[in-house]
Amino acid sequence: MTEKPIKAAGISKIYKSFLGKRATVLHDISLDVEEGEIFGLLGPNGSGKTTLISIFSTLIFPERGSLSILGMDARRDSKEIRKVINISTAKPNFPWSLTVRENLRYYGMLYGLCGSALSQAVEDQIDAFELGDFRDMTFENLSTGLKQRLSLAKAMLNHPRLLFLDEPTTGLDPDISIKTRRLIKRIHEEENIPVVLSTHYMPEAEMLCDRIAFLRNGRIVAMDTPSNLKKHLGLGERIVITYEGSADIVAIQSLPGVLAIKSEIGRLEIVIDRVEDSLDRIVKLFCAAKILNITIREPDLEDVFLELAR
Ligand SMILES: Nc1ncnc2c1ncn2[C@@H]1O[C@H](COP(=O)(O)OP(=O)(O)OP(=O)(O)O)[C@@H](O)[C@H]1O
Ligand SMILES: [Mg+2]
Repeated sequence: MTEKPIKAAGISKIYKSFLGKRATVLHDISLDVEEGEIFGLLGPNGSGKTTLISIFSTLIFPERGSLSILGMDARRDSKEIRKVINISTAKPNFPWSLTVRENLRYYGMLYGLCGSALSQAVEDQIDAFELGDFRDMTFENLSTGLKQRLSLAKAMLNHPRLLFLDEPTTGLDPDISIKTRRLIKRIHEEENIPVVLSTHYMPEAEMLCDRIAFLRNGRIVAMDTPSNLKKHLGLGERIVITYEGSADIVAIQSLPGVLAIKSEIGRLEIVIDRVEDSLDRIVKLFCAAKILNITIREPDLEDVFLELAR
């Protein structure tokens, strides 16, 4: 049986300030990452995502708990682990006066590549991440999106068996974010490696992740597949009706399955369990009004997050 990419049990992390004050920023984190999955760490600023990724990638060590990465002990075997993992972070910082190609060669050498193997690995990543037109541009002159692409290319140079991405689209324009997400999906499919990805952007987690752990104040408050999270939290679908005239709001509120309603002039938002059972009855309660539009949407992770934060 192959070992799980990540097996973490009871991880706690305490930071000490230079005045000796101690702050526990991760509390008793236990999770496993399975072979081939994209595992999302989702949470607001300061919830502990980067700290946890730093622990998983053996950059720092926890005060408590046990951690196995690809079957190796995170503390004892950290040197071996670092050879077979890689990481790309938001706002990557590379030697600013080196070009894209020189930066990749520099990292390739750090990973022990030389000669034709190094040249080939660099060219492969330049091709894979469509960096050919920018190969001779220095890091300082690259746009934020290109810096992120270079960082992803660097992260794939050693063909990692486990990849960490810390907020891979933070600070990118929406269209560049979409492109970057597609790139991440493609890497994951082509290389078939497990990926641990942190984000505070719900649609990103929903689009990319097989499973998600929500972190809040250093604790996991929920962990499941995106669809189970939506289901188990009892989040209903959202029906938004815009209309002219008057509707029987009180009657709608007391229909079975209606979890909540938000009423404004000419607009009614209904959160409902199993929309198909009640849509017909809802519409009938608008007989004295003219319905202008009806939209129905499934709950997204933003709704889950708001629910968990309550
Ligand atoms: N080196 C450090 N020394 C002391 N405290 C730290 C250190 N690094 C992080 N922290 C604290 O640990 C907590 C978790 O920080 P972390 O950076 O892991 O959160 P995050 O979820 O990645 O946040 P963000 O979304 O802003 O990136 C925060 O309260 C932060 O201030
Ligand atoms: Mg962070």
